[in-house]
Amino acid sequence: MTDSAPTPPPAAPLHFVLTGHVDHGKSSLIGRLLHDAGALQEGKFAAMQEMCRRRGVEFQWAFLMDALQAERDQGVTIDSSWIRFRHSEREFILIDAPGHELFIRNMITGADMADAALLVVDAQEGLREQSFRHGFLLHLMGVRQLGVVVNKMDLVGYKQEVFAALEAQIREYLARLGVEPLAVVPISARNGDMIVAPGENMPWYEGASVLETLHGFRAREAAADLPLRLPVQDVYRHGQERILVGRIESGQARVGDRLLFSPSNQTATLAAFKKWPEGGAAGEEVASAGECVGFTLGEKIFIERGELASHEERAPMETDVLRARIFWLSQEPLRPGESYEMRLLGARVLAEVESLEWRVDTATLARSPAKELGANEVGEAILRPRRMLALDDFEDNPPTGRFVLARGKRICGGGTASLQGYADRRGGPIRHSSHITRTPHPVEVAERSRRNGHAPGVLWFTGLSGAGKSTLAFALERRLYDRGFQVFVLDGDNLRHRLNADLRFSPEDRVENIRRAYEVAGLFSRAGMLVITAFISPYASDRERAREAIGSGFREIYIHADLETCAARDPKNLYKKAKAGEIVEFTGVSAPYEAPKRPDLRIDTAEREIEECIAALLAYVEAEFGLREERAS
Ligand code: ADX
Repeated sequence: MTDSAPTPPPAAPLHFVLTGHVDHGKSSLIGRLLHDAGALQEGKFAAMQEMCRRRGVEFQWAFLMDALQAERDQGVTIDSSWIRFRHSEREFILIDAPGHELFIRNMITGADMADAALLVVDAQEGLREQSFRHGFLLHLMGVRQLGVVVNKMDLVGYKQEVFAALEAQIREYLARLGVEPLAVVPISARNGDMIVAPGENMPWYEGASVLETLHGFRAREAAADLPLRLPVQDVYRHGQERILVGRIESGQARVGDRLLFSPSNQTATLAAFKKWPEGGAAGEEVASAGECVGFTLGEKIFIERGELASHEERAPMETDVLRARIFWLSQEPLRPGESYEMRLLGARVLAEVESLEWRVDTATLARSPAKELGANEVGEAILRPRRMLALDDFEDNPPTGRFVLARGKRICGGGTASLQGYADRRGGPIRHSSHITRTPHPVEVAERSRRNGHAPGVLWFTGLSGAGKSTLAFALERRLYDRGFQVFVLDGDNLRHRLNADLRFSPEDRVENIRRAYEVAGLFSRAGMLVITAFISPYASDRERAREAIGSGFREIYIHADLETCAARDPKNLYKKAKAGEIVEFTGVSAPYEAPKRPDLRIDTAEREIEECIAALLAYVEAEFGLREERAS
C-alpha cells in the first residue's frame, strides 16, 4: 500500500528504571549521570551553575533535572517520564517516575516495561520500607536485571564497613527473591564518585561504576522467537474492508499465516498488513514484536476488540480461573467475594476474587494467611473472570500474563498470572477438517421419547474419587433398566480403558476426557437414551460446557462425601498411594476439585445408606424424565 522501503531495525535501546525511597537522591543521580556521561548539551552545566550563583543558591544536581524537564535539552530528550541519552554508541532510556505512587502505577500497568532497574538506597538510612516494596515489585513484574546504587557515601565518610554491611543486607534480601544484582555500587551523586569515573574517595571499591553497570545490562530480546501474541485493540471499517489493529507483543506475524483468535476460537488467514498507524508494517510481508500493525483477514469472520491472535500451534491458554500475584494500590482493601474489572491488553472482563491465599511481607518475604489486602500490600489470590480469557503464564510470556484490576476509571491494583495446575479450557479442539456438511436426522427426538416412555437426558455425576459415583451409577442403571428405561452408564475408569486410553490426569487431559465424555453422552441422549455419567470432572467450567453441549436434558448431580471419608474408604487404594507420592496430580490430594455451587441434585453418601441414595435418585429420575402413562412398568 505504501512505497516506504523497509529499514533495518535499529539496535534496541536499553530501557531502565531508576527507583528507590523518595529521599534517597534519584534526581541528583540522574543530573550527575547525564553530565558525567557527556550527554548534556555543551554549556548547559555552566549555565546552570551561573544561574544558581546569580540567584544566590547553592547548585544542586537535582536542579539540572528540573531544568531539563522545563526546557528540553537537545542532547537529552525528555518525553513524559522517559529520558533518552546516548553513550558509547548505545542508546539508553531512563524511565523516571517521580514519586512512589506513580512508580508503582507505571510498573503495574506495564506502561514502562523496563529491561533493567537501578535501585537507589541511601547509605545513611539503609533499606527502607519503600526500598523493599520497589525491589519486590520489580521482581513481581519480571525485571530480573538489577543494579543497586548506595548513594550519599560522602555522608558516611566513604567508609567501607558501612557499605559492606549494607551491601550484605541488600544481597541477602535480593537472594531470597532469587535475584542476583549485577553490581552494588557505592556512590556519591553530589561529588560524582563512581557515577562514571571512580573518583578518589573509595579506593577500596573495585567494582563497576553506575555507567558501567548500565552498559552491562542487556536490552530486551526482540521476543521474535516467542510465540505470536497480537491483541486486537480495535477494528476499523474502511470501505469494504475491516482492518484489525494491534501491537505485536511477542513473536512474528507473516502474510499468509493462519491466525487463531482467542477466546472466540476462530481461525483466518492474515491477508495483508495495512497502513496503520502511519506506515506501520504496511505492504510488508512480516511484522515483529513491538510493531503496531493494521491487518486484514482472508475470511469473513467476526472479530472484536479484546481477542488475542496467535498461531494455532503455540496458542495462549484459555481459562476462566487463574492464580494471581497481586500488588494492591487502593485504599479500599481487596477482599474475597469482591469483583473488579480485569484489564488484559485489549480485553476487559469482570472477575471475582474467589479466595485470598496469602499475603507477603515485602521486607521479610514471610507469607501469612490473610482476609484482605490493604494499600501497598502484596498477596496471592484466585481470580474467576466471568468469561473465558486468553492469556499466558507470566513466566512464559510477560506481556500477555499481566493485568490490572480496576473499578470504573480507578486502577486498584495489578498483577501477574500463574496458570500452573490449571487446564487450557479452549472450547473443544480447533476444527481442522473443512468441506463438511451436517445432515439432519429423519427421526425426531420426540418420537424416540414416545417409544421409550421417557425423555432422554444426561445425569452428570460429579464428585471425588471414592465418593460413590460409579457404585450409584451402576446400581441406578440396573434399577432404571428394570423399570423399562433405555439407560446406559458412561464411567470414567471404563472409558479410560479404550476411548480415553490416550489420556492421563494432567489438567489438559482431564479437560479432553470430559469433552469426549459429554460429546458421547450427548450423542446417546440424542439417540433417546438416559445416560448416567460417572466422572470426577473436577473443573466447574467443563461441567458448564457439558451443560451447554447437551442442553435441556442435562442434570448436574453432586455425589458428595468429604475428603476424609473418601480417603478412608479408598476402594482402589489410590489415596494411600497419592499421599505417599506414588500417584501425582491426584484429585483432592494434589490436584483441585471444584465443587458444584448449585447442583441440580446433591446426594450425600457419607450420611445416607446406598439404598436411600438410590431411592432418592430413582424418585428424581421419575419426576424429571418419566412419561409414566406411556411406559409399561
Ligand atoms: S477426571 O478427573 O478426568 O474426571 P475420571 O473420572 O475420568 O477423572 O477418572 C477418575 C478415576 O481414575 C478415579 O476414580 C481413579 O480410579 C483413577 N485415577 C487414577 N489416577 C488418578 C488421579 N491422579 N486423579 C484422580 N483419579 C485417578
